[in-house]
Amino acid sequence: MSELPDWQIEIDQAAIRWQAEIDDAAALEALRSLEVRALGKAGEIPGLMKRIPQIPPQDRKAFGQAVNALQAHVAATIEARRQVLVEALIAAELQDATFDPAAVALPLKLGHPHPLSTVQADIEAIFTSMGFHVLDYPEIESEFDNFEALNIPGWHPAREMQDTFWLESGHLLRTHTSAGQVRAMHQFPAPFRAIFPGKVYRYEATDASHEHTFHQVEGLMIDRKVSVGHLLDSMRTLLSAILQREVEIRLRPGYFPFVEPGFELDIRCQVCAGDGCSACKRRGWLELLPCGLVHPNVLRAGGLDPEEWQGWAFGLGLSRLVMMRYGVPDVRLLMGGDLRFLSQF
Ligand code: PHE
Repeated sequence: MSELPDWQIEIDQAAIRWQAEIDDAAALEALRSLEVRALGKAGEIPGLMKRIPQIPPQDRKAFGQAVNALQAHVAATIEARRQVLVEALIAAELQDATFDPAAVALPLKLGHPHPLSTVQADIEAIFTSMGFHVLDYPEIESEFDNFEALNIPGWHPAREMQDTFWLESGHLLRTHTSAGQVRAMHQFPAPFRAIFPGKVYRYEATDASHEHTFHQVEGLMIDRKVSVGHLLDSMRTLLSAILQREVEIRLRPGYFPFVEPGFELDIRCQVCAGDGCSACKRRGWLELLPCGLVHPNVLRAGGLDPEEWQGWAFGLGLSRLVMMRYGVPDVRLLMGGDLRFLSQF
């Protein structure tokens, strides 16, 4: 009878030792930590392979195979032990007098993205494909970024268009995503294009078409030659891609101190098809997309020379767009957190 090599004896003993430990593991946690010690990356059995250089060359193949076999054997033994422990746990639960195996299970409730998130993600995808950055700017802003930089000085009547939540620090909750325009101009060398979606706040009475907290997506494109035609074409692409149908739009001149010329882009109300409803204040049309060419003063505030650079900007009413896409009659439903409403999407 040939003498067994030392390493073989050692492996056989390891198998016996692990078998005993596994049989002794009385709980799943103990089994798990044992598994890590035996088979984990830094565990004992994978560690055996490091000894190959010390094994006589003619034995190395057999040694490797023996270690692999040990590993497989220990893994299978652990799995079998785990089965036994799990079954014991279930059996114990069944013994529990308060456990009723015939009880009707409550249906699982699966979550899903909020409609605002869905539409925002669609918009981001469309604009990313056109080379736009997607930026995230603060909701607490300085008076400068929200107003001054946008050509809205303190005495300007336009400040009343946006009743503001002021903070004691003198900062404010941004009243529009336009607050990011000058930040973006300082952040990126021209030319660039970016959208910045986010929450905005207005201190105003709420009704079916007004909410104190709502969502906008700002768009800003800075380049050497920028035209109203290009702006409108981008807006049309956006709207038909998001609403997935042809929509009637109309353009009116609109006044915003930070654009010149400025426009209001309205769409035919998709909730009432133009008959007039709460969503469109009975007008049949909805202001959805104010936009225009960036005012030279704003370019200057952003450190750009208006002789060299131009831009267009839009401030999409994301909340309204969601209402139009899904036919939601009241903006307050969007942030109301009512699951009866949200589970319809
Ligand atoms: N910031 C404006 C608002 O919220 C909308 C706007 C954005 C208008 C960009 C023109 C250009 O009312």
